[in-house]
Amino acid sequence: MKVTVVGAGNVGATCADCIAQKDIVNEVVLLDIKEGVAEGKSLDMWQTAPINVYDTRVKGVTNDYSATAGSDVVVITSGLPRKPGMSRDDLISTNAGIVKSVTENIIKHSPDTIIVIVSNPLDVMCYCAYLAAKIDSSRVFGMAGILDTARYKAFLAEALQVSPKDIQALLMGGHGDTMVPLPRYTTVAGIPVTELMGADQLNAIIERTKVGGGELVKLMGTSAWYAPGAAAAQMVEAIVRDSKRVFPVCTLLNGEYGLKNIYLGVPVVLGKKGIEKVIEVSLNGEEKKLLEESAKAVKGVMEVLDGMKMF
Ligand code: NAI
Ligand code: 2OP
Repeated sequence: MKVTVVGAGNVGATCADCIAQKDIVNEVVLLDIKEGVAEGKSLDMWQTAPINVYDTRVKGVTNDYSATAGSDVVVITSGLPRKPGMSRDDLISTNAGIVKSVTENIIKHSPDTIIVIVSNPLDVMCYCAYLAAKIDSSRVFGMAGILDTARYKAFLAEALQVSPKDIQALLMGGHGDTMVPLPRYTTVAGIPVTELMGADQLNAIIERTKVGGGELVKLMGTSAWYAPGAAAAQMVEAIVRDSKRVFPVCTLLNGEYGLKNIYLGVPVVLGKKGIEKVIEVSLNGEEKKLLEESAKAVKGVMEVLDGMKMF
């Protein structure tokens, strides 16, 4: 099995490292446009193999797509990250061009690959890659839900003083401040979270989750990478192991949840074919309203992409 990670910056390098440490594929190719960066980081990772005991060969290249040929999965992280004061949506004018050209190059060399998008604004970059790749949407989707859910779970674990391992939760919608954490689908070892925490505390955690990315941008001057890299690697693992994991993934909706022709985060089954099933859970009136508001926010950014007349 071969995986390519495009973008050897914070998220891409972390993702490549996580995949290598899992020892689940023969080869990881890391590609960047900055001369020497992917080569250097890959060499450093390969030299970690004897210490942390794995076989995965990590190779770095500068913009050489022939080295990515025959990839089973490609993770696209190339593009600008947020700086303080910026929303994810402010990145579209630069990142849409990058995601389009990277996707076209990838598909030329790996026509059968599965593509996992990470670049922001995530939901619309998935749509952009889908239009550029011209392949079935089951093979083009994005990472955001695992990260946003992980933030929600981490805040809950801290507040309840329990292990994050015991928290199960569902979060849907776009990767923006309108994301929809769902307390009705949140449990601690099977116990509804509402049994363990008052509404005010839970609402405060939900609000913190929605702006969880921004909290980190304020602290670090750029966006997060450890959890994002690990989350994208977890999706790669589900695909290469064909493990049918159920994750919130940004996928193209074709009528599910009453929404069409939009990429949005919903629970799916992830396996070797990519998105193998979209799971439709029942939502109450308030939850539906929140999901529709989130979809509306994503549609607004899709209109910006349409206005760029790239396709
Ligand atoms: P970074 O600036 O550390 O790395 C980006 C890398 O992309 C740079 O090394 C740059 O040289 C490379 N790049 C730019 N244009 C390229 C091209 N045409 N071909 C190949 N490589 C190219 O940024 P970071 O922190 O790694 O973030 C990457 C993207 O991921 C950003 O758009 C960020 O907003 C997004 N992100 C998304 C998350 C999600 O949940 N979906 C979470 C965290 C970040
Ligand atoms: C994050 O949520 C900015 O999308 C990035 O950390």
